[in-house]
Amino acid sequence: MSALPLQAQPEPLPVYQPSGQEIPLFEAAYRHGLPVLLKGPTGCGKTRFVEHMAARLRRPLVTVSCHDDLSATDLLGRHLIGQDGTYWVDGPLAHAVRTGSICYLDEVVEARKDTTVILHALTDDRRMLPIERTGECLSAPPEFMLVVSYNPGYQQLLKGLKPSTRQRFVSLSFGFPEARREASIVETEAGIDAAAARRLVSLAKALRASAEYDLEEAPGTRLLVSAGKLIAAGIAPREACRVGMLECLSDDPGVISALGDIVDAVFEA
Ligand SMILES: Nc1ncnc2c1ncn2[C@@H]1O[C@H](COP(=O)(O)OP(=O)(O)O)[C@@H](O)[C@H]1O
Ligand SMILES: [Mg+2]
Repeated sequence: MSALPLQAQPEPLPVYQPSGQEIPLFEAAYRHGLPVLLKGPTGCGKTRFVEHMAARLRRPLVTVSCHDDLSATDLLGRHLIGQDGTYWVDGPLAHAVRTGSICYLDEVVEARKDTTVILHALTDDRRMLPIERTGECLSAPPEFMLVVSYNPGYQQLLKGLKPSTRQRFVSLSFGFPEARREASIVETEAGIDAAAARRLVSLAKALRASAEYDLEEAPGTRLLVSAGKLIAAGIAPREACRVGMLECLSDDPGVISALGDIVDAVFEA
């Protein structure tokens, strides 16, 4: 018996529930060759948004998680030594420019200072990427787009990017979604019922309001989705919230126990 012919299935669009006008704004920036800066706390949907937009615009996405050791060379590429001598390998940014992809530099201000020089050339009107080591100067095609993110909660963008670079970005601010939308996100992403999702959102609201525990960062939607997934897998809600949320927010047993009281109050109600 012959095998059934394989039909190419279109890739499903990563689900993204918008909070405002971010989708048409991003599309307008893309059409006009403008780079975009996403600001917002961790776990509030920045990465998911970029994934959604890349699929929506049918562009490949190249994501780089920036860290304090990431240099311009890491982004541009390097010469490697092979059997037949040296050969050049594009770094992720050069690859994205060459292939007309969307390049997402996550937490860009973490990267080493020398990266801002190459970003500057690329966010200039001419949209060029000079690669000194190969003597090339790549001209970014219209399909190429640069997207960067930073977290104003603990990162200092003003220090990280030159004003002349910063002012070329269209800036989109992300925050925690409004309660009904966040419940809908948690319900869909975690596969739990609406009532359980609403409880997790009211727990988040209480935790976000409890500044007294001096948490490094408030819980993002990601933590609600994690706790929700554990609940969907049959874990008791309080335990799910402890391992899926509280333990991720603090390492201080006293703080975790105090936050546990907030969980108890929400899940008793
Ligand atoms: N607007 C949204 N639509 C759909 N899912 C979302 C949304 N916001 C957050 N999420 C969920 O939260 C998780 C974390 O979001 P993510 O995009 O990784 O956050 P960030 O990049 O801002 O740290 C996602 O994997 C997704 O499950
Ligand atoms: Mg992210």
